Amino acid sequence: MAASRVFFIKSIFKISFTLVVLCAPSFSSIISVCKNCHGKNFEKRALGRSEIVRNMSKQEIINALERFKKSKSNSIMRGFASRLSDKQIEQIGKVIGK
Ligand code: HEC
Repeated sequence: MAASRVFFIKSIFKISFTLVVLCAPSFSSIISVCKNCHGKNFEKRALGRSEIVRNMSKQEIINALERFKKSKSNSIMRGFASRLSDKQIEQIGKVIGK
């Protein structure tokens, strides 16, 4: 009896932990979508026309993303930037910027 209860409680913990991990968007999941266009290490010109983001400074990246986020134009980046919080934008700048 006791053993099966322990097993039950352990299972609940495992399931909750998995849910938390799956639901919280981790940094790598946030930027995984970017990699399709910007390259694995942000080393490519997205669609042949963006700057190479890894050569940009932290502040340049943050400014660009904030600008896309606020823009009213229908640019590709607006769609992606508008889904990022200011905190995530800051984090992207910090990690990817040089
Ligand atoms: C569908 C392709 C695509 C995806 C996905 C994408 N981008 Fe972009 N990105 C572009 C293009 C194209 C530009 C150039 C500006 C423009 O034409 O709108 C750009 C520009 C940028 C710039 C500014 C560089 C410049 O040229 O001034 C940054 C920073 C950036 N993207 C970051 C990101 C981040 C971070 C993500 C993921 C959240 C992302 N991008 C996802 C296509 C993409």
